[in-house]
Amino acid sequence: MVLALKVPREEAEKVRKRLVELGILDRDHRAKKEGDFVYFPVKSPLEGYEAVEIDLPAVRRKPRDMVEALSGLLSPEEVEKVTKSFDIIGHVAVIEIPEGLRDKEKLIAEAIMRVHPNVRTVAVEEGPHEGPFRVQPVRVVAGEPNLVTTYREHGVRMMLEVGKVYFSVRHSFERKRIAEQVRPGEVVAALFAGVGPYPLVIAKKQPRVKKIYAVELNPEAWKWMVKNVELNRFQEKIIPVLGDVRDVVPRMFPKMADRVIMPLPKTADTFLDVAMEALREEGGIIHLYTFGPAEDPFKEGEEKIREVVEEHGYCVRFLEERRVANYAPYIWKVVIDAYVFPCK
Ligand SMILES: C[S@@+](CC[C@H](N)C(=O)[O-])C[C@H]1O[C@@H](n2cnc3c(N)ncnc32)[C@H](O)[C@@H]1O
Repeated sequence: MVLALKVPREEAEKVRKRLVELGILDRDHRAKKEGDFVYFPVKSPLEGYEAVEIDLPAVRRKPRDMVEALSGLLSPEEVEKVTKSFDIIGHVAVIEIPEGLRDKEKLIAEAIMRVHPNVRTVAVEEGPHEGPFRVQPVRVVAGEPNLVTTYREHGVRMMLEVGKVYFSVRHSFERKRIAEQVRPGEVVAALFAGVGPYPLVIAKKQPRVKKIYAVELNPEAWKWMVKNVELNRFQEKIIPVLGDVRDVVPRMFPKMADRVIMPLPKTADTFLDVAMEALREEGGIIHLYTFGPAEDPFKEGEEKIREVVEEHGYCVRFLEERRVANYAPYIWKVVIDAYVFPCK
């Protein structure tokens, strides 16, 4: 039962405005029409109108954030861990269930769906990124069992199936950062291209790019990349190629690229010779993603680049270096932008 004001219908709108002005409309309950009267839930009576005790339906408000959605269900420390442990890719949320909270996964999933009404599917990570395709197994725990999603970023749309291909929303800044460096007329080699996020964002941000060769080994990711190139109408600019960069580069675009992007941190350094094969005789830029220890996360990457570049008779200057993500305790995922040029 809640306190309500019994108002004749013809006065309802006028009184509602007055209640709002006075700040006494109870927004946790809904008004109800009955016969010739409207019953407004109120925090206190209003002179001139009868106040009654009545049953009115409660308003189900969306929780403001995960803290509110999980308060009373998890401890504040547990809530803090959960808020940092999920990503939203289109309508799919992917959660890494923090240590000790496996039995609460359903509760957490439902909280995510209440806070983020666009999320219709919640999946939990079932292990690390594995194998040559760097795919992470997932299991749907709440909502629709549909992992095919559409994600929007920097004005492009990408479709993919979560759990079948590698994709991370966390590299959105990197894609923009690199795309903004591409100059008109460039040929770009997007190695390890996945479903195409780097090529797509580059084509969007630099419409005068000449060509982007996008090479991917996982047939499932390549299939989505082809679809995404069509979806964004970049067929003239992006050439999605299925295969191993080691075979594809010498066959399709040897010595043609002004820029080589290498987003495969686990083993990209072992493909630096392929990057050299892709770069034009005049040289160009290599973006190498790699891992490095916290004390000096760029040193090993720089050494590897220098070694391969010098073996090919070229010189190198390091342009920009960034910590991309804290990958594991004391290990950073980093990117090194290296300008490679013929030594004078
Ligand atoms: C870490 S993922 C990055 C995917 C994409 N660039 C992105 O940012 O979402 C690395 C990708 O490289 C692909 N890959 C691994 N080895 C490869 C190779 N030798 N040639 C071509 N692609 C390869 C994997 O299948 C995977 O899709």
